Amino acid sequence: MATKVFPNNVSLVVLISGDGSNLQAIIDAINNDQLEAEVKAVISNRSTAHGLKRAVKANIPTHVIDHKDYPTREAFDQAMIQIIDPLQPDLIILAGFMRILSEHFINHYQHRLINVHPSLLPKYKGLNTHQQAIDNKDSIHGSSVHFVSHELDSGPVVIQAEIAVLKTDSAKDLAAKVLNVEHKIYPLAIKMFAQKRISFDGKQIQLDNKPLKKPLRWKNDKLTEIN
Ligand code: GRF
Repeated sequence: MATKVFPNNVSLVVLISGDGSNLQAIIDAINNDQLEAEVKAVISNRSTAHGLKRAVKANIPTHVIDHKDYPTREAFDQAMIQIIDPLQPDLIILAGFMRILSEHFINHYQHRLINVHPSLLPKYKGLNTHQQAIDNKDSIHGSSVHFVSHELDSGPVVIQAEIAVLKTDSAKDLAAKVLNVEHKIYPLAIKMFAQKRISFDGKQIQLDNKPLKKPLRWKNDKLTEIN
């Protein structure tokens, strides 16, 4: 992929473990000139991750770092740091990356590590979020883009997307609906960071130089709430 140079160009390293549809949404947003960014590398902990094929197709360098090859979480994370640091990315993007990160990794990339989680945080941290929404008879479910903190699936949320839960929806139906909105809000959050509209000092997200008190909300295909 030819490097596009824009005033708001932001450089990314994307960490994946699986399908990589969120990675694809980011690649597409860049190629469609909706996002001024460059993906410097894609790292996967699984050699079979389909997202690696998506990266290769987009001419993005890929790295497989198999966590099973490392004796400790810290050693695995350090191997990733050795790949990431020379690239000096503005943001490290977790996109379906299924490993818990060490304290050292999170501290090392403080302020520039973001994740997408398939629930309306703080609801349903961890796994099986769609089934939990069904079991709890939620009428609204969704996804959150958030900066990463030490606690799993925590840290300040930038944007949340809502989807309606129908009585007939299975967990698989919800996963598909959630992915659909993630593909909009993840590139959008990165774009707002690239435009320097969003920043994070480790405690508080700023939007347009004002504290973001509540997450931005994406509903019916648009941002409906700002502060
Ligand atoms: C997404 O639903 C994301 O919220 C979760 O894992 C899924 C990854 O999907 N963290 P993909 O690999 O980007 O298709």
